[in-house]
Amino acid sequence: MENQTRNRFIIFAFVAAFLLLASGQVLAMGLGAPVINLKMKYSSRGKIGPVVFPHLTHQKVLKCEECHNPGTLNFEIRKQYGMGNDFHEKFCFPCHEKMDVPDGKVCTNCHKSEKKKKTALVK
Ligand code: HEC
Ligand code: HEC
Ligand code: HEC
Repeated sequence: MENQTRNRFIIFAFVAAFLLLASGQVLAMGLGAPVINLKMKYSSRGKIGPVVFPHLTHQKVLKCEECHNPGTLNFEIRKQYGMGNDFHEKFCFPCHEKMDVPDGKVCTNCHKSEKKKKTALVK
């Protein structure tokens, strides 16, 4: 009887330790910025206006894993310039098409003028 109680306690301790670690990792990773300037983040030298990515808006409707595991996006960036760049082709466009996002491929929905980038939309 005493052994059983001890075993239960050990199992409980393991589960508690696991939950603590898991929540610690989520906290350590954090939600990231609510809005991210991708042109700046990837030091793009292209001419088109910066993409001000509404991170929080996406977090509200999608699971994190649909875009990235901690630290890395779900695709590799090999081509950064021109219309056929990997952000368009492998990431933003396919999902916007799949999910029928209104104006999901309209340039100015993502590329903002330098002036507007500070007042980007956050929902
Ligand atoms: C769904 C969002 C989205 C839409 C819509 C979009 N883009 Fe982009 N575009 C991006 C992202 C993200 C990047 C990579 C980050 C950056 O360069 O700011 C990018 C990069 C680019 C680049 C390469 C970088 C550069 O500055 O040269 C060009 C060119 C470009 N886009 C043109 C366009 C044009 C033209 C349209 C409309 C026909 C368009 N984009 C529509 C998200 C979008
Ligand atoms: C629609 C796609 C998408 C979803 C969903 C998403 N993220 Fe992100 N996340 C991005 C992009 C794009 C970046 C910026 C590019 C990069 O960091 O390489 C980013 C960056 C981050 C960063 C880096 C910090 C920063 O501010 O630059 C963290 C942390 C992060 N996301 C956490 C999360 C968490 C946690 C979730 C789920 C609650 C989540 N993201 C959901 C696309 C997404
Ligand atoms: C995995 C799916 C997915 C990916 C990847 C994704 N989006 Fe979206 N995006 C959505 C959905 C779904 C919405 C509609 C959200 C809503 O209206 O609540 C949206 C909406 C938007 C909007 C409009 C937000 C608003 O306030 O109305 C912008 C701008 C946008 N996405 C930019 C981007 C850019 C830039 C990228 C690539 C860096 C990207 N998205 C990648 C699913 C995605």
